[in-house]
Amino acid sequence: MATNRTFTMIKPDAVENNYIGGILKMINDAGFRIVALKYTKLSTEAAGKFYEVHKERPFYGELVTYMSNGPIVAAILEKDNAVADFRTLIGATDPTKADEGTIRKIYAKSIAANAVHGSDSDENAQIEGDFFFSKLERF
Ligand code: CMP
Repeated sequence: MATNRTFTMIKPDAVENNYIGGILKMINDAGFRIVALKYTKLSTEAAGKFYEVHKERPFYGELVTYMSNGPIVAAILEKDNAVADFRTLIGATDPTKADEGTIRKIYAKSIAANAVHGSDSDENAQIEGDFFFSKLERF
């Protein structure tokens, strides 16, 4: 059964390039409601924990360094079929393979600096949202 929430981060490259507004506008225009929103910076330890699932991958060290390099925007988003629809909106992990009109096609620089994160399952959406937000921070 599909649930109706997903989790996203606007990554350091997109924040640094002043794309927060453009990306949030695309998210709202696609019909997602913002349930929770936070502008913060991950420590190396926190980035390592968030991406622990990729620990054995060759790019893990680069990913953790990159994601703790500057501020990010974290958000929980709500919409019918949120996880799948958000992954369609952001496009492929590698921006050179992302469809026209997707967030990564428009805003991402590379596979490492790919502008946004989107949960890959309902289970991970719950885990990732809980990583950043308490119950008092969700509306
Ligand atoms: P994200 O959706 O945040 O989930 C895991 C991240 O790892 C992914 O986006 C990319 O930023 C990063 N990633 C995936 N594959 C590679 C790769 N081959 N090289 C560097 N980073 C990668």
